[in-house]
Amino acid sequence: MTQVHISTHPLVRHKVTLLSDRHTDHKTFRELVRELTRLLLYEATADLPLRDVTYETPLERASGHKVDARIGLVPIIRAGLGMVDAAVDALPHAEVWHLGMYRDETTHQPVSYYNKLPASCPDDIVLVLDPMLATGGSAADAIGEVKRWGAKSIRFVGIIGAPEGIASVTGQHPDVPLFLARKDRELDANRFIRPGLGDAGDRLFGTVPREEG
Ligand code: PRP
Repeated sequence: MTQVHISTHPLVRHKVTLLSDRHTDHKTFRELVRELTRLLLYEATADLPLRDVTYETPLERASGHKVDARIGLVPIIRAGLGMVDAAVDALPHAEVWHLGMYRDETTHQPVSYYNKLPASCPDDIVLVLDPMLATGGSAADAIGEVKRWGAKSIRFVGIIGAPEGIASVTGQHPDVPLFLARKDRELDANRFIRPGLGDAGDRLFGTVPREEG
């Protein structure tokens, strides 16, 4: 599987432009994160294994397919929470496990503060969810944790990635494909993604001052 997938879908490109616009309000931002997650998940799950089944339509016996994999979702709290509803809509039988991480404002290193993974990984495929890949430290640590947990097949689904973060995660985890809506230009001196979209957690949860007008 190719390792880095930057969506070229017109709807993704349209929605990620709206998402990163500073005038987009919190409600619309949340809706766009959900819509983008749904679209990206179609790409991230395009090769899920299927098993043949027989079943009955109202008219006759028929043959069809069902997904043949147990799937786990691991959102990185906080911003990854904004992707969960759309992900479970697409994968209603998925299990949701949580990791909490924040990036230290001075060192820019990820700090783990919550881990609700059970003793062993019950899933065949694990999707790690976080809208932002800046330095890649949070995603790389989360993927490392999920590997230590025992997950054999891992994918990362995000929305915006900086070149530095993408290179770092693919360097540390060459076996993990990344699915993103957009690759941005660079990280700035504060390790913020440029042009970026600001702080996804703050914009999802309304924890930035509302602009007048
Ligand atoms: C953001 C984002 C990622 C991380 C990306 O979280 O949601 O988890 O930063 O940065 P990195 O690639 O350099 O590690 P943040 O630290 O703002 O925490 P929050 O989601 O709780 O707001």
